Amino acid sequence: MAKIQFLKGFSEIQLSNPENLMQTLRKHNIPVASSCGGEGICGKCQVKVINGEVNLSAKRKLESDCLIRNGVHEKNVRLSCQCTVMGDVQVDTNYW
Ligand code: FES
Repeated sequence: MAKIQFLKGFSEIQLSNPENLMQTLRKHNIPVASSCGGEGICGKCQVKVINGEVNLSAKRKLESDCLIRNGVHEKNVRLSCQCTVMGDVQVDTNYW
């Protein structure tokens, strides 16, 4: 069992299986910015991983390229549409 925690504003989410981060957040009515619908193109679904980055799936080229294109170089920033939660994580955005 994994959990997603937040710095502020939202209650912890419990997962019994690995799930896509953005889909899980939206399923729990937590807003996630997007203009590409989760295709890894717009870069708007970024989240800062406060804890547990090792518990997210590895970055693929599509995600890395999109982050670079959007001027993001911090290793703990991920595209929520492109990562799978496999263990406990704590995430934040600048609009929550
Ligand atoms: S929703 Fe567009 S890159 Fe994730």
